[in-house]
Amino acid sequence: MTYLDELFSLSGLNAVVTGGSSGIGRAIARALARAGASVVIVARREAELKDTVDELTGLGASAAWVSGDLATRPGVRQAAEDAVRALGGAEPDILVNSAGINLRPPLSELTDEVWDRTMAVNLEAPFLLGQRFGPGMAERGFGRIIHVTSQQAHRAFVQSGAYGVAKGGLESLARSQAEAWSPYGVTVNTLVPGFVLTPLNERLSSDTAKVAELAARTMIGRNGLAEDFEGAAVFLASRASAYVTGQAVFVDGGLSVH
Ligand SMILES: NC(=O)c1ccc[n+]([C@@H]2O[C@H](COP(=O)([O-])OP(=O)(O)OC[C@H]3O[C@@H](n4cnc5c(N)ncnc54)[C@H](OP(=O)(O)O)[C@@H]3O)[C@@H](O)[C@H]2O)c1
Repeated sequence: MTYLDELFSLSGLNAVVTGGSSGIGRAIARALARAGASVVIVARREAELKDTVDELTGLGASAAWVSGDLATRPGVRQAAEDAVRALGGAEPDILVNSAGINLRPPLSELTDEVWDRTMAVNLEAPFLLGQRFGPGMAERGFGRIIHVTSQQAHRAFVQSGAYGVAKGGLESLARSQAEAWSPYGVTVNTLVPGFVLTPLNERLSSDTAKVAELAARTMIGRNGLAEDFEGAAVFLASRASAYVTGQAVFVDGGLSVH
């Protein structure tokens, strides 16, 4: 084994990536697979899931997909069991929660339905998947949980509404999970994106003046790309990050400190 393998290789590890069929989740799934993990991606739309798995297997990786709706508790529980089945009965060593929605109604128009749906997908699903897989990781003495949160966990931005609340809760969940399971080799951290050009932001991305204005607010001078998350995800999923837990890792081109 080379030194870099010792630090970063994910060979022999199983990963579940929610939202792994699009945007940031897809880039993370690809990165973990290329670093050696067997990856199962979870989302709803089958065409995108199949297309992603074709890409990963085309790269020589071991990959599978599960179609499930993370907006309901039964849906999350079913998806978790389907993911274990897709891993041949093995439980994941790495769990990445990237599935997320941002419905953005102005706060005065925010309905109970939008609130409930946002909390269900963005906060409850990561909680339930943690409850399902975290204790097993702790028992086995190794695990990595990575949540994808948002700058809106830290500041208001373009109708943060329920979305920012859910992401703030997700950062707190990461700390609670880190406190519970870090003594047993399970680290829990969050990746904090700024503004990333993905399907989630399609509507905002068509406003070229706004996109340029956001790029200028970073230090690097451009908005994020899904690929920008690959290195940080491999680090947080690997043995190299064994002493990093409960942290928010900002992958935002310096937006949050500018
Ligand atoms: N893009 C940004 O600027 C930005 C900024 C801050 C934070 N984030 C966060 O980064 C994460 C990834 O965002 P992204 O930009 O990559 O978004 P994206 O391209 O829209 O991908 C979202 C993923 O979540 C899945 N998903 C959504 N609802 C689901 C549900 N009910 N059940 C199962 N899967 C569901 C989608 O697949 P299906 O639709 O097929 O289910 C898709 O795979 C999210 O948590 C988002 O909040 C993004």
